[in-house]
Amino acid sequence: MVADVQDELGEAVVREITEAGGQAFYHHLDVSDEQAWTDAVAKAVEVMGGIDFLANNAGIGDNEPLDVTSKETYDRVIAITQTSVFLGTKAAEAELKKSQGSVVNTSSIFCIAGGFGTSPAYAFAKGAVRTFSKNNALGFAPAGVRVNSIHPGFIDTPILGETDRQMLADAAPLKRVGQPEEVAAALLFLASDDASFITGAEFVVDGGFLAQ
Ligand SMILES: NC(=O)c1ccc[n+]([C@@H]2O[C@H](COP(=O)([O-])OP(=O)(O)OC[C@H]3O[C@@H](n4cnc5c(N)ncnc54)[C@H](O)[C@@H]3O)[C@@H](O)[C@H]2O)c1
Repeated sequence: MVADVQDELGEAVVREITEAGGQAFYHHLDVSDEQAWTDAVAKAVEVMGGIDFLANNAGIGDNEPLDVTSKETYDRVIAITQTSVFLGTKAAEAELKKSQGSVVNTSSIFCIAGGFGTSPAYAFAKGAVRTFSKNNALGFAPAGVRVNSIHPGFIDTPILGETDRQMLADAAPLKRVGQPEEVAAALLFLASDDASFITGAEFVVDGGFLAQ
């Protein structure tokens, strides 16, 4: 199940998957809305018969320093980037426990390092996602459900906006920005049975940025 608020792009992802021989369907989901999560889980169970993997991946940033940003911006970033992970995990909990499934939450290198000193709400949110993932891994472990987080570096996606890609490439030892597929590969590994003894772990995918 592909879930997002950008319906046309979500449908395009589904087409890509089905054209490659996979099975997928799209469901509109505002991750900051608790009722929408309840409906999304019901839809997933109706179509797929259960849930064995949840990727909490939606997120937005605030590219404003503390003196410029507002409480309104802060609340919006926290709702979509942080509270969504709580809501999604809570909504899917019973199904994940039935299937002894797993969860991957997308955090960021900016939950470990301070970034550029801007985007305070994003830093709050990603730090919270990291800690929640470990807390939730312990909470779910008795049920055999694994929970891990991934921490992308600079990946060439729309969230980067107009930020100079060369500047970001220069900041990483591999001297390039990452591609979304390189993060997806880590996420799929953590979702797979190959990662059956991995829980509460954080998986950095950053071209070496944090090793510096
Ligand atoms: N690209 C990077 O450099 C980078 C680095 C570190 C972490 N991340 C994280 O990776 C994740 C994916 O981001 P991305 O890089 O693919 O950027 P992106 O902007 O392409 O993807 C974010 C997605 O979240 C969706 N979204 C926004 N608000 C939503 C809502 N209310 N309900 C449902 N979906 C909503 C957007 O429609 C979009 O599809 C995010 O959590 C982001 O913070 C990205």
